[in-house]
Amino acid sequence: MTDIAVTLADKRGTLPTDDKLGFGKIFTDHMFVMDYTSDKGWYDARIIPYGDFNISPAAMVLHYGQAIFEGMKAFRTEDNRVVMYRPVDHLNRFNNSADILSIPQMNVDVVHTALKKLIDLDKHWVPKSLGTSLYIRPFVISIDPYVGVKVASQYTLFIILSPVGAYYASGFKPVKIKVEDHYVRAVKGGLGEAKTAANYAASLKAGEVAKKDGYTQVLWLDAIEQKYIEEVGTMNIFFKIDDEIITPELNGSILNGMTRRSVLAVAKDWGMKATERRISIEEVYEAHANGRLQEVFGSGTAAVISPVGELCWKGKKIIINNGEIGETSQKLFDYITSLQQGRVADKFGWVEEV
Ligand code: COI
Repeated sequence: MTDIAVTLADKRGTLPTDDKLGFGKIFTDHMFVMDYTSDKGWYDARIIPYGDFNISPAAMVLHYGQAIFEGMKAFRTEDNRVVMYRPVDHLNRFNNSADILSIPQMNVDVVHTALKKLIDLDKHWVPKSLGTSLYIRPFVISIDPYVGVKVASQYTLFIILSPVGAYYASGFKPVKIKVEDHYVRAVKGGLGEAKTAANYAASLKAGEVAKKDGYTQVLWLDAIEQKYIEEVGTMNIFFKIDDEIITPELNGSILNGMTRRSVLAVAKDWGMKATERRISIEEVYEAHANGRLQEVFGSGTAAVISPVGELCWKGKKIIINNGEIGETSQKLFDYITSLQQGRVADKFGWVEEV
């Protein structure tokens, strides 16, 4: 097992009150760092005070975007234990993103051990009330100082921690989503399945246009025909039609979301029909016209479950469930957040104590 050196911060910060948390703006006292060179492999695993770092202006990540990240969470339980949600599944997905971006594989055991040590050191930053958590952001960047396109030979891995509240300012209230009919996010054979900076950069322009029109996010369609539903970018998407929940099947251009996986498993466990298949936007609008579309909701680590109250496709608006939180969205939100915070028994083995 790799030794993890620890350099303690001179001063410890304090966790703000819940109303000041927001999302992704506050960071804890320490971070984990590990380096890679093609000669040494991954080396120098260390926990150091959180702070700025130096890279060359020629660092390849700044020019060619060879970068990956993860998003995972830790929680404080009612009896004051700190737990992580599906950490090994997240780290395996991190390695899948690494593979897609030609970044060297990491040893999941080493990163998992480091993560536990980091959270343990900064555990006073883990908020407690329902809906709050410690957001964990591992990321890898390529740092060779080189202005030319190639797979890098030097990388740095970081893990930073951020106490958070709800991802959307509206909290758990239904969001309005524009179905994007002009821009595209990802194409089969591309990077869509990876958690990589490029996918988020590709989403910004469409997101800005949608925001001006009063929408929170866009729902992406497939990039070839702009017909089949993919994902929202910050979350996967589910439709409840005739009491069945349906989410687009994974096809290489959709993120293999951890909350998506959890929703499918939980719904099946409840005896619901939960299906992964290709679903077109026309089918959703038809189901709405026939009164069969009962709910739409997004799922994601940051957003957890986010009910969708309105969709707008090519100027045609549909209001879902009278713009109110649906029964299944509410039930899934309550169950998954309770499971994550140790308020219900973890029959799936997803929660791990730090
Ligand atoms: C997550 O859900 O963890 C993500 O990485 C999405 C990001 C927009 C915060």
